Amino acid sequence: MRIALGVTGGVAAYKAAELTRRLQQEKLDIQVIMTRSAREFITPLTFAALTGQKVITEMFGKESNATPNVESAIEHIAVAQRIDLLVVAPATADILAKFAQGIADDFLTTLYLATKAPVVVAPAMNVNMWENAATQNNIATLKSRGVHVVDPDEGYLACGMTGSGRLAGIETIAKEVCKVLGLRHDLENETILITAGPTCEDLDPVRYLTNRSSGKMGYALATAAQRRGAKVILVSGPTDLQTPEGVDWIPVRTTKQMREAVLERAKESTIIIKAAAVADYRPVAQSQQKIKRSTGEHLVLELEPTPDILAELGRTKSSQVLIGFAAETENVAASARKKLTTKNADMIVANDVTQAGAGFDTDTNVVTLYLRDHREIALPKMTKFQVADKILDQALELRPQTK
Ligand code: C5P
Repeated sequence: MRIALGVTGGVAAYKAAELTRRLQQEKLDIQVIMTRSAREFITPLTFAALTGQKVITEMFGKESNATPNVESAIEHIAVAQRIDLLVVAPATADILAKFAQGIADDFLTTLYLATKAPVVVAPAMNVNMWENAATQNNIATLKSRGVHVVDPDEGYLACGMTGSGRLAGIETIAKEVCKVLGLRHDLENETILITAGPTCEDLDPVRYLTNRSSGKMGYALATAAQRRGAKVILVSGPTDLQTPEGVDWIPVRTTKQMREAVLERAKESTIIIKAAAVADYRPVAQSQQKIKRSTGEHLVLELEPTPDILAELGRTKSSQVLIGFAAETENVAASARKKLTTKNADMIVANDVTQAGAGFDTDTNVVTLYLRDHREIALPKMTKFQVADKILDQALELRPQTK
């Protein structure tokens, strides 16, 4: 699908770059249009680099080139007909006023009048400007004509005041765009508990046992589920990843902490995906002081098994769909099948971590889904986000029909 992103002149204009990236993740083709004042805040080059497309800044070609050409003069009509949606973020008080009045004095305002595509605006301005009756009337007018308004957030504003006027969160704007475009939100009734990353088991105050899990697969699942409308609880071991916006993030360190967090939140969940690489063993004793090196002597660590959270969930689960992961270096299929039964899971996502492009710390994965009904779905190499969507598709299929 093709959308136009209008960027107008406010301090929040830089956030439009982030919005561009976010919308690209929805596979949207984005034509950016900047008003003259937007270009005082951020350069077209940023958007051209992000979208790989020329940014439209003028109605009649280059500013210095006074001679309009037919092509650029009717471009707004062509863009207006091509797009599936127009989103303006940030939208200043000025652009809202122009839209409400039907003023067409630059490319963006002309496009607005010329397009029949749905329009989403995300206002951002000083709190007094936002609350001014003129702006509020314009907003009411636009809403009455079917424009989708993503209300600004409250908070500290660039002008130094506090109040309503901050551009809404990128995720909120993106969600509205997806909703208006009818992009799928099939997980809206689900609460999905996801574990991610490694766990760490301390030996002494400075040393611990862990594994090479980056958390990327679990975070991709959390992001994908959140985008598809699910309420997401992400219980995460230590990772370097950014917390996905809009998820309930619970950081943990040890297997014991992960178990406590998971069991506490399991009841409210409809789907549980255990993507974490949980430590299978932990030191029996933790030294309160740093273990000293003694030359020539071997140090033997005694390890005990950690509680198997997945198996515990399998024993106690009611109607939840329970999904586990299996990272293997050999006998992938046999191990996955065994885990399905021993852990009472509904699906095991197995990968051979020795394969190129699979497993730890890569952006891609090669997995096979093993299901209770003996089906085996081998997926080709794809990004962890694509894998996440496939897992979620399958999870939804496994959900008992409530309707
Ligand atoms: O038995 P194994 O550790 O290979 O099983 C992997 C699956 O079990 C993963 O989904 C992992 O999150 C989960 N697991 C767990 N608690 C453990 C060990 C693994 O929940 N102590």
